[in-house]
Amino acid sequence: MVVQEFFHLPVFLFLLALLHSVSTQYNSDTREVSIFGMMLQNHIFKTITGAALSDVCLLECYRDVRCQSFNYVFTQDKCELSDRTKEARPEDFVPNSERYYFRRDMKRAHLGAIPELPADSCKEIKSSEGGQAVSGKYWLNFIKPDTPVLAHCDMKTEGTFDLKTNGRSGRFGIKQTFTVTRTTCYLIRAWGARGGTHSYNYGDSRGTYYGGKGALKENNFFLNNGTVLNIVVGQRGGDSVEVVGGQSTNKTAAQLGVSVEDNAGTGGGGGSFVYTEDNVLLLAAGGGGGASGGYNGVDGQVGSNGTRSVGKASSQARNGGTDGQPGECNSEGASYHGGVGAGWLGQGCTRLGTSHGERGGSLAQGWIGGRAGGMNSGNNGGPAPGAVGGFGGGGGGSEDNGASGGGGGYSGGGSGTHSNQAGGGGGSFCSGQSCSGLTGGNSNDDGLVQIIEFLG
Ligand SMILES: *[C@@H]1O[C@H](CO)[C@@H](O)[C@H](O)[C@H]1NC(C)=O
Ligand SMILES: *[C@@H]1O[C@H](CO)[C@@H](O)[C@H](O)[C@H]1NC(C)=O
Ligand SMILES: *[C@@H]1O[C@H](CO)[C@@H](O)[C@H](O)[C@H]1NC(C)=O
Repeated sequence: MVVQEFFHLPVFLFLLALLHSVSTQYNSDTREVSIFGMMLQNHIFKTITGAALSDVCLLECYRDVRCQSFNYVFTQDKCELSDRTKEARPEDFVPNSERYYFRRDMKRAHLGAIPELPADSCKEIKSSEGGQAVSGKYWLNFIKPDTPVLAHCDMKTEGTFDLKTNGRSGRFGIKQTFTVTRTTCYLIRAWGARGGTHSYNYGDSRGTYYGGKGALKENNFFLNNGTVLNIVVGQRGGDSVEVVGGQSTNKTAAQLGVSVEDNAGTGGGGGSFVYTEDNVLLLAAGGGGGASGGYNGVDGQVGSNGTRSVGKASSQARNGGTDGQPGECNSEGASYHGGVGAGWLGQGCTRLGTSHGERGGSLAQGWIGGRAGGMNSGNNGGPAPGAVGGFGGGGGGSEDNGASGGGGGYSGGGSGTHSNQAGGGGGSFCSGQSCSGLTGGNSNDDGLVQIIEFLG
């Protein structure tokens, strides 16, 4: 353990322990040499002017427990003290012709070892301290904003487990499991996936329209050693791949650029879910709706309900699901409806035919995404998988002259009928108090589930 457990001791013992902990955490580097023509940027917490020699900076650095390194600006007799080293932040170590960089050579506290010097992640501590970083408790500042929290860092896993799509894309994914190995508190974050993109260069509103972004939802959970969590990581909804006039292509949507059919749908993004072996839901983060001609998809929602689809004609929009239900049943016979996003409690109603987008699958269907309408599905000579709904319950996009899919989530996003209807965003869920999250909080395409182990 790097930090002593001193919280329950009387005050004088507390001070002794603090002194002890500090004195044992200084590392014993041999004298560093200054590095000419380089500086560490973005971590300067104090500047001192009138320093005729760099030794002044070194003395100032020794005086401040936060000081990890300094830049000496020899053209201006100035010291810049930083609370990071170049090892912790190699990306911020940059050439500068007016400066020297110098890492504190003596009595440098390990990053995260004291509350004045909280680390941004366990990984950062490992970078900063190299071989001297051992698993144990450290002060981290990312668990609660602006408040250092003493947390466990496992230097093998770096304390953070990122569960991703494992290279999968489209409708099919796999449910993963995560086994808890320590009885403690965990911060779990889930991000839903983005809906598909639609691009075209003729007709009305030509241009590129983007799928809604996935939502973020997070909370702390106290979990017992041995608990097994089911993890579903939402996958991005598919882009439209149908080309003008229904002609065949083997190109991907990205290769096609702005030349796809103006009115075909795209897939809704999958939601991300975390639930126990007994199907007790801990977290769900909604996926974004698929884009359509002239309209971006709706973002995955931080609230529990999915949203309505959006588009040219409001009479052709359909509602998102509420309180764990899929998007509103869409049974319009006209060309063509999109597939609704699945909710935690079930999938939507059956599509009217293979030209329409298919509903996304829920828990009972293994979260499989909905198929795309025929000519937009990759069966028309076009690239697979076409405008499918993303794994995680995203609805599929219809073929030409139809709507895009809704996002999967705690409640599914709605999907409209007819063309120029972008999909609604899925809703989110979190059990327990002090949940937080953000509508459209995922800036990446695919979903992600992050599990951070800590001892609050
Ligand atoms: C968690 O449980 C396993 C299996 O019972 C045990 O081997 C392991 O030591 C436990 N972990 C901790 C941190 O107690
Ligand atoms: C698409 O690929 C298939 C299989 O390689 C090929 O038979 C077909 O001719 C291709 N179509 C086009 C339009 O290139
Ligand atoms: C979700 O929708 C239901 C039904 O319209 C409503 O009663 C509830 O307040 C909504 N929930 C939120 C969080 O907006």
